[in-house]
Amino acid sequence: MANVPNQAQCPMTIRIFFVPARALGASILIVAMTGAAPGAAASRDAGVDASPPPVAHLANADDPVKVEAGKLIYAQRCSSCHGKRLQGQPLWQLEDQYFGRRAPAHDESGHTWEHSDEELFHITRYGRFTTADPTIPTYMPAFDGVLDDEQILEVTAFIKARWPLGLRISQALLNPGYAGMPAHAQNEDWTFPPTCVTSVQRWRLGSR
Ligand code: HEC
Repeated sequence: MANVPNQAQCPMTIRIFFVPARALGASILIVAMTGAAPGAAASRDAGVDASPPPVAHLANADDPVKVEAGKLIYAQRCSSCHGKRLQGQPLWQLEDQYFGRRAPAHDESGHTWEHSDEELFHITRYGRFTTADPTIPTYMPAFDGVLDDEQILEVTAFIKARWPLGLRISQALLNPGYAGMPAHAQNEDWTFPPTCVTSVQRWRLGSR
């Protein structure tokens, strides 16, 4: 299945959920306050490399100009399949013979937020995730040659900007150095979504 969340991401998220609540809160605050360069304490708590490589394709959902540009692109290029309200095609979750052919939701009911920025860039450009088996057909169009890099980042920024804060924080944890951590994370009330374990199991069961 093209969109099985990759192994490298999920354990990190799971490990983070096992960090005691107070330590976790502290580490997220540090991350939120230091942006793309998390402090040593945050790295230790979350079990990630303290000096990760920079993210080549980071979509800035805190930039209203990019988000607005992305909204237009989304309406023109994505909404016919993924839904005007990002709700996905009807029955997209149904695991029947059309599983994987229906465009999933991009809002909080979907699983777009379970992928790093680099992966979202890749699937939008090439129509499949890096981890996808190339022999299995994909029903997601490749936008290479249709949208340039900047436009792909803008449409991704628009999608990210629509997520509740907890989802945005959870997704930023998948990026090296927690890049893309929402700027206002430390000022607002938010909760994490459920861990991605259930989703991984669901996708594994649905794989064929
Ligand atoms: C012709 C229908 C169609 C259009 C138009 C389309 N998509 Fe998709 N998209 C799909 C399908 C079908 C999938 C599921 C692919 C799979 O499961 O292998 C998908 C999957 C995705 C995913 C992966 C989501 C996940 O969590 O697995 C992303 C990201 C995505 N599309 C982004 C976009 C963006 C951005 C646009 C507009 C620039 C777009 N798509 C336009 C059909 C479409």
